[in-house]
Amino acid sequence: MSYAKISQVAHYVPDQVITNNDLAQIMDTSDEWIASRTGIRERRISQSQQTSDLATEVAKQLLIKSHLGAEELDFILVATITPDSMMPSTAARVQANIGASRSFAFDITAACSGFIFALSTAEKMISSGVYKRGLVIGAEVLSKVIDWQDRRTAVLFGDGAGGVLIEASDQKHFLLESLQTDGGRGQALTSSYQGLASPFSAKEDSHLSIEMDGRAVFEFAIRDVVATIKKTLSDADFTAGEIDYFLLHQANNRMLEKMVRKLCVDREKLPANMMWYGNTSAASVPILLSECIAEGKITLGSGQKLLLAGFGGGLTWGILLLTI
Ligand code: ACO
Repeated sequence: MSYAKISQVAHYVPDQVITNNDLAQIMDTSDEWIASRTGIRERRISQSQQTSDLATEVAKQLLIKSHLGAEELDFILVATITPDSMMPSTAARVQANIGASRSFAFDITAACSGFIFALSTAEKMISSGVYKRGLVIGAEVLSKVIDWQDRRTAVLFGDGAGGVLIEASDQKHFLLESLQTDGGRGQALTSSYQGLASPFSAKEDSHLSIEMDGRAVFEFAIRDVVATIKKTLSDADFTAGEIDYFLLHQANNRMLEKMVRKLCVDREKLPANMMWYGNTSAASVPILLSECIAEGKITLGSGQKLLLAGFGGGLTWGILLLTI
């Protein structure tokens, strides 16, 4: 039986910092409104880099940190809702950029759950025994799909990328998971894809911006996601207190505070960084994991128990329980 483990982590964010006060210069909002409702104080915005550029920076760091050559990778998965193009995939662009000549590569689209879904997929590919090693990266340039006239959504999002090297292991690290989708509630959070009108069909209005029923999404996170976290813990025979860290999607600090109360855990067990990056969708969990490791909270190879959770558009939500 093969098992899989996370053996390296990395993240990369664009240099340009946009504060809440910067946003207040271009729309009717304020630092006070944004910070009090979401916890977000600033975000990174790419000037000219595309999603594949951010993901490539992460891939290069992962190779350097793990002393691996690109040709030693079997696959590259990129989770994103802001691909440079539909074809080639962002993952294929990363594969070319780093020269991973033996890798196959493809994108996964599951919005803010994308990294969790991709990591689960990679774990199955390694556990099959067919593949030994790959990169799983969440990367977004959400600034390019935000409607900058819409203060209800523009203040929430940011750009960034994070990822992991996943490799075969002789010990079990991925303990339990729960991946969920409720497409029936998909209209609560949408980002349209701009298509060209066909001469054979009625032209439909198309646009690229994110639209959201904020309250519905908030309720979904604190009700459905918390219920699935509790069920996953109970199925694994764990109490919440036995988990060292809950690395949850970084959408909103008020959301995390409600989750802390419902899960009855110490706030320190739910690290947060949305203050500095906003909501980076598929990149949020791997950026947080990478920062927690850089800060020494989490140590690779330590056996600490982590619960990773992504949730958002689809609606999708995914929980992974693992030891690091
Ligand atoms: N600045 C100032 N005022 C604003 C802003 C802004 N940026 N945005 C909205 N407002 C105003 C509204 O126009 C409204 O004014 P009105 O009462 O005069 O009409 C008022 O603030 C209240 O608006 P609501 O939308 O009711 O505000 P709410 O308290 O629900 O907070 C928020 C909105 C922060 C988006 C909240 O619903 C939320 O956190 N939802 C979760 C959604 C989320 O995080 N989505 C991220 C993507 S999904 C995911 O990643 C899980």
